[in-house]
Amino acid sequence: DSSDAEYLISRIRSIPDFPSKGVLFRDYLPLMADAKGLQVLMNALEAALPVPADSFDAIAGLEARGFLCGPILAARLNKGFVAVRKAGKLPPATISESYTLEYGQASIEIEDTAVSPGQRVLIFDDLIATGGTAQAAARLIARSGGTVAGYSFVMELEGLGGIEQLGDYPCSSLVTMPA
Ligand code: PRP
Ligand code: MG
Repeated sequence: DSSDAEYLISRIRSIPDFPSKGVLFRDYLPLMADAKGLQVLMNALEAALPVPADSFDAIAGLEARGFLCGPILAARLNKGFVAVRKAGKLPPATISESYTLEYGQASIEIEDTAVSPGQRVLIFDDLIATGGTAQAAARLIARSGGTVAGYSFVMELEGLGGIEQLGDYPCSSLVTMPA
């Protein structure tokens, strides 16, 4: 509800010009460090699932900040957790997808057997900005034979078109903040 959203926002730290000039960095680590904040956050993520819990089999979380709450949410829902890693961390065999950052390209990877054919996967991350990272994760899941059930985010940055980039997939975010 709205008082939960206010509490979440009150514990999210905003840092101007990080990691580069003109970027307002939104940090949910202080929210996680706060005992009440973590409870409010996890309850809200569970309540705001974009699809019913019985319509997906696993949660895929995106390194690094999607690794913090993704497994907690998965455990609460009795699902497995799939780690989508930054490039170069996993031994072969992997599937890799590139995406565009503000400056240059980056890649993310999963083990080629991390998702089984037909498995329905909910993608989780702390934040959606341009949507490049989330879309790359969706391509990984599709290439591995899985199905994207939807997307769950803690924060959505306004005006960057990220959610629109995701097309018709069910999507939820707990708070919307200026970019
Ligand atoms: C941040 C954030 C999302 C991504 C969103 O991750 O945690 O994963 O950017 O941006 P996008 O929608 O424009 O793709 P970052 O790459 O900074 O790394 P981290 O999670 O490892 O801190
Ligand atoms: Mg990230």
